[in-house]
Amino acid sequence: MSPELKILQMHILVLLLTLFSCTYNSHGKYILEGSAVYDPNNYMILTNTTKHSYGQAFNNVSTSYKNQSFSINFLFGIVSEHKQQASHGMAFVFSHTRSLPGASSDQYLGIFNERNNGNASNNVIAIELDIHKDEEFGDIDDNHVGIDINGLTSVLSAPAGYYDDKDGNFRNLSLISGKVMRLSIVYSHIDKQLNVSLCPAEFIVPPNKPLLSLNRDLSHYFSKETYLGFTASTGSIRALHYMLIMQPFNGLTYPPMEFGVVPTLPPYPRKASDRTRTILAVCLTLAVFAAFITSGIGSAFYLRHQKVKEVLEEWEIQYGPHRFAYKELYNATKGFKEKQLLGRGGFGQVYKGTLPGSNAEIAVKRTSHDSRQGMSEFLAEITTIGRLRHKNLVKLLGYSTRMRIKNG
Ligand SMILES: *[C@@H]1O[C@H](CO)[C@@H](O)[C@H](O)[C@H]1NC(C)=O
Ligand SMILES: *[C@@H]1O[C@H](CO)[C@@H](O)[C@H](O)[C@H]1NC(C)=O
Ligand SMILES: *[C@@H]1O[C@H](CO)[C@@H](O)[C@H](O)[C@H]1NC(C)=O
Ligand SMILES: *[C@@H]1O[C@H](CO)[C@@H](O)[C@H](O)[C@H]1NC(C)=O
Repeated sequence: MSPELKILQMHILVLLLTLFSCTYNSHGKYILEGSAVYDPNNYMILTNTTKHSYGQAFNNVSTSYKNQSFSINFLFGIVSEHKQQASHGMAFVFSHTRSLPGASSDQYLGIFNERNNGNASNNVIAIELDIHKDEEFGDIDDNHVGIDINGLTSVLSAPAGYYDDKDGNFRNLSLISGKVMRLSIVYSHIDKQLNVSLCPAEFIVPPNKPLLSLNRDLSHYFSKETYLGFTASTGSIRALHYMLIMQPFNGLTYPPMEFGVVPTLPPYPRKASDRTRTILAVCLTLAVFAAFITSGIGSAFYLRHQKVKEVLEEWEIQYGPHRFAYKELYNATKGFKEKQLLGRGGFGQVYKGTLPGSNAEIAVKRTSHDSRQGMSEFLAEITTIGRLRHKNLVKLLGYSTRMRIKNG
């Protein structure tokens, strides 16, 4: 009786963290429509102080999500005119088109309008952060997160909050608190499952238990040409909808919040008429300050980029991602120490590391697969991520495989 042999492969992807470029070089690739603007702090504000308006920001480059698992995280905040009430909310959108023309404000959140709401040829998936209860769409309350497919009647929704990792209890969050929060969207192409979590921005990784988990094959919507966008709208009560950072990490789980503290958003602006002078002065100061900061960050980024470039060139001129020795990655992550762990999720663990020699900061994803399916999935992942060049995606530096033969 011979014990069944099971081959476990350890697959390691080395991904370069490009947090700086995500945060500070995000200008220019989002096309702003309607009321959306950038403020002096580099935040995108999707709505202004006008009632019944909407804003959109769409990435001008499509991303291929065909047969991919992915994870997208972003930070947002909603600052309302009134403490207790606001309208109407915002949404993160996957679309086959680069914009959503003809969208309406108010309950349509700048995504759909009265005519096309619910039409199956929209090909739009939206994660809504809804701050107004609309009976016509069966909204559960005025503070919820929902998954919308082609229309504003959510296929799944839940009151805003999260399940605490410590005790499993549900904790409420107020979307209009003006606090910066994180939304995580994870899709497993293999499990055909979409998880959505909301948590305070201070959390390094989102909670283990997602707020929403939808079991559905969404591969039709996550196609070769998918455009990512943000929308928001106001109704009769005004609110500013802020987007702070967006970090899609293809195939990776949750990116960390590094490089400093969570920003605080300014209070809702007072009436301009009597305060024009003060605001002008403040704006000037801000502009000077922003220029100062930008130049500082710019040069820091440049230096970083130069260092990283040396690493990239080594393999970029070759055929594709570089194969790393397991030992290199073992050393880079200090032996896959718990302390280096950035996140954990459906697809394995992600560790922070430093490549010896270059000092380049990297993220190492470690997954174990059963050999049969695992290898082809792994190859698909490296070849697709390896070819992707997108400012918002971590770059694939290389990979490593290690086979372990285990009794079991
Ligand atoms: C708000 O955005 C709209 C476009 O949707 C624009 O017409 C309006 O002038 C803006 N209002 C302010 C106060 O900037
Ligand atoms: C859905 O949209 C398509 C394309 O815009 C249009 O041809 C069709 O008539 C719409 N269907 C309904 C029921 O409105
Ligand atoms: C969370 O919010 C709901 C609805 O607003 C309320 O019924 C519930 O008591 C709140 N729970 C906690 C723990 O604050
Ligand atoms: C979704 O969440 C559940 C519960 O935590 C988890 O078991 C599953 O792996 C998650 N799926 C994805 C795609 O992250």
